[in-house]
Amino acid sequence: APALRIGLIGFGCVGQGLYAILQQVPGLGFEVGRIAVKSPDKPRSLPKEAFSFQADELLHDPALDVLVEVIDDAEEAFRLVSTALRQGRRVVTANKAMVAQHLPELVALQHEYGGTLLYEAAVCGSIPIIRTLDAYFGQEPLRSVSGIFNGSSNYVLTRMGQDGSEYAPALAEAQLKGFAETDPTLDMAAFDPRSKAIILAAHAYGVLLQPDQVLNLGIENVSATDIAYAAIANQKIKVVAGLYLLPDNQLTVLVTPQFVDQSSPLYAVDDEFNGVVIEAEFAGTQFLRGRGAGGHPTGSAVLADLAALRGNFHYAYPKLAAAQLGYTTDLEIEIY
Ligand code: HSE
Repeated sequence: APALRIGLIGFGCVGQGLYAILQQVPGLGFEVGRIAVKSPDKPRSLPKEAFSFQADELLHDPALDVLVEVIDDAEEAFRLVSTALRQGRRVVTANKAMVAQHLPELVALQHEYGGTLLYEAAVCGSIPIIRTLDAYFGQEPLRSVSGIFNGSSNYVLTRMGQDGSEYAPALAEAQLKGFAETDPTLDMAAFDPRSKAIILAAHAYGVLLQPDQVLNLGIENVSATDIAYAAIANQKIKVVAGLYLLPDNQLTVLVTPQFVDQSSPLYAVDDEFNGVVIEAEFAGTQFLRGRGAGGHPTGSAVLADLAALRGNFHYAYPKLAAAQLGYTTDLEIEIY
């Protein structure tokens, strides 16, 4: 079969990560047809001729089989992705803020125009959590889905705990390694993991939440003393995102720093690693751990989505359908 031609929109950490993987492993059956970036003046790893400076040109280029949107700006990302979906196109995105803010519309657009949007890279980098929830646990009631969904803040907490680093230099190191968002407040104040929790709520519970419905507390005020206090009791401070089903079938979703003890699999999730614990009604408890940030791990998730698209996979949103929200933008929610 001919290689699938990719229109790559954005050439930052994730875009370059995907590009590097495709260069490194020939014969995967994907080729980067065109790359669009915003600024013509920024120094880049490829010559200027390699780029288009008009992302819209890629949207309308019939020679491209699939679009990969990996830009920073959530509103521009939504404009691009929604335009592509209106053409029935196949799209992969890594933009969690965009997906979290616009999930009802994105689901509706796929349904209406027959395109497909996949976004495994948007949640926990390389950990295959969305497809796991959507396809594998789509039929099963889940008691909880919880975990560490932000690599940068986890990296900062780990450095503070292990090396006694202060907050600011630990954050600078996370930024240097390419884990942090352009605006690190998104990581440190837990807006980024909140977006990820919202995306998982749709797949795990069929619940569509708006960002301001979800409590998020960050680590800006966590001190080395707080971490030392936790350590005395053999605990660590971690930013835990939790989706918990209450006995009356209500769902609570929140992202907060928590004391985690050694009995939790999250205790050993350090540095930029992410971890997710799934408590399923019949399967029991499962734990996934992997790299949640960085160009190669996130590029790997994009690659997995590209392969899934080639196999005509699409999210079934089984619990949204079961909740009979249908494919609407109605935010009134009942579970199961
Ligand atoms: N800034 C994010 C993190 C990148 O630190 O986890 C992955 O979404």
